[in-house]
Amino acid sequence: MAAIEKTYSMIKPDAVRDRKVGEIISRIERSGLTIERMELAYVTVEQADENYKHLKDKPFYPNLIAFMTGGPVVKMVISGLGAVAKMRSLMGATNPLEAAPGTIRGDFAIDVNSNVIHGSDSVENAEREIKLFFGE
Ligand code: RTP
Ligand code: MG
Repeated sequence: MAAIEKTYSMIKPDAVRDRKVGEIISRIERSGLTIERMELAYVTVEQADENYKHLKDKPFYPNLIAFMTGGPVVKMVISGLGAVAKMRSLMGATNPLEAAPGTIRGDFAIDVNSNVIHGSDSVENAEREIKLFFGE
C-alpha cells in the first residue's frame, strides 16, 4: 500500500511566463494531493547545477541551466499517498512528444527543452531537493 510521502515540484519558467500556474495547481489539487509549501522564486545557478548534476555531460546542459534560471519558478512541497509517483504520472513523460494527453506536459508543453514542470523521481531525491530549494 502506498505511504504518505512528500515530493518536490517546480512549475518551470516557461509555464510561469505563459500564465499556466493556476491551471497546473488546479490539476495538482484535483488529484487529491496537498500543496504544503509554495513560493515564487528564482532558481540560483548553484541550485540548478546541484539539481541537474546527473546531466552535466549532456550537450543540452548549458541550455537547461540558462532556462531554469532565466525567469521565476513556482517551488512546491506536495504531500499525499504515493506523492512522488502520483506527481510523475500527473506530469507525463519528460519529452512532451511522448507525454499522454491529459497529463500536464502532454497538454501544455511543446518540446523537451521547456517542459513546464519538474517533479522529484524518488523519495530520497525529494528530501534532497526540498532541502536544496527551501532550506532546512
Ligand atoms: P525533471 O527533472 O525536470 O522533472 O525532468 P525528468 O526527471 O522528467 O527528466 P531528467 O532526465 O531529470 O531531465 C531533466 C530535464 O532536462 C531536460 N532534458 N532535455 N534535450 C534533451 O534530450 C533533454 N533531455 C532532458 C528536460 O527539460 C528535463 O526535464
Ligand atoms: Mg529529473
